[in-house]
Amino acid sequence: MIQVRPVHPMVGAEISSVDLTRPLDDATFAEIRAAFARHSVLVFHDQPVDDEQQMAFSRRFGPLEVTKVGSRGAGGHLAFITNLDESGKRVPLGHRAILNLKANSLWHTDSSFKKVPAMASALSGRIVPPEGAETEFLSTRAVWRELPEAMKRRLDGMVAWHSYFNSRRQIDPEMMTAAEHQAVPPVRQVLVRVHPDTGEKALYIASHASHIEGLPEAEGRALLADLMEFATDRRFVYTHRWKQHDLVIWDNRCTMHRGRPFDYERYDRYMIRTTIAGDAPTVAE
Ligand code: OGA
Ligand code: MN
Repeated sequence: MIQVRPVHPMVGAEISSVDLTRPLDDATFAEIRAAFARHSVLVFHDQPVDDEQQMAFSRRFGPLEVTKVGSRGAGGHLAFITNLDESGKRVPLGHRAILNLKANSLWHTDSSFKKVPAMASALSGRIVPPEGAETEFLSTRAVWRELPEAMKRRLDGMVAWHSYFNSRRQIDPEMMTAAEHQAVPPVRQVLVRVHPDTGEKALYIASHASHIEGLPEAEGRALLADLMEFATDRRFVYTHRWKQHDLVIWDNRCTMHRGRPFDYERYDRYMIRTTIAGDAPTVAE
């Protein structure tokens, strides 16, 4: 039996009595899967997984996404969230790796810029700074529940345009290469998702979302900004303070997250992410 201890009233639970460096039996995985459906973010401490073990655990949830063009590890199943270069040295402040960390510090949901967005992401803390670099999470199911009824009626059925460029341009409009622009053109996503495990609705927006189909662009942008302001109220937010060997897995269908800044020149941070693919587009063609 695993132990499940909620870390926040609306999102997240710590899971103990499990060793993710070893293959999990089906009964244990079923308990983890049930906790995931309910809590959206699961925190495991003291899990010194290597890349293979992290991939093996992640694959229990489903097939993995392939790391996109232009990112370190492109074509593989690992994403590197780090201020270190391949030789382990800290990169200078203007480096792409830092721009990517800054883009991750905008509230987002992983790969909503893909037609079939990610179902879940698992992040392991291999090297974590002694201060800063927390990861914040919120439940977009809780956000949906608390929206005024008239707003829910207005939003249901809406479609938003999402793009990788929309989040990157907030950091540096020049940071994407032509190949990246080509690889990740804007896509449509429903604004309200229904969670397949529970039937609950969840607001689906954040930093990749630029505007709303059928609304003048400025009006859509303003509505998205108002919704983000509502959604990111502190009462919704769980702040995860990393310890080395923590592994956190989250449900991208019903959460948003962001990485907090840290002293990029003073501390090392080396995190590995595996991303579990979604199974279908959110919109009918
Ligand atoms: C991610 C991400 C935030 C962080 O890995 O998808 O957004 O704190 N990470 O590293
Ligand atoms: Mn992310």
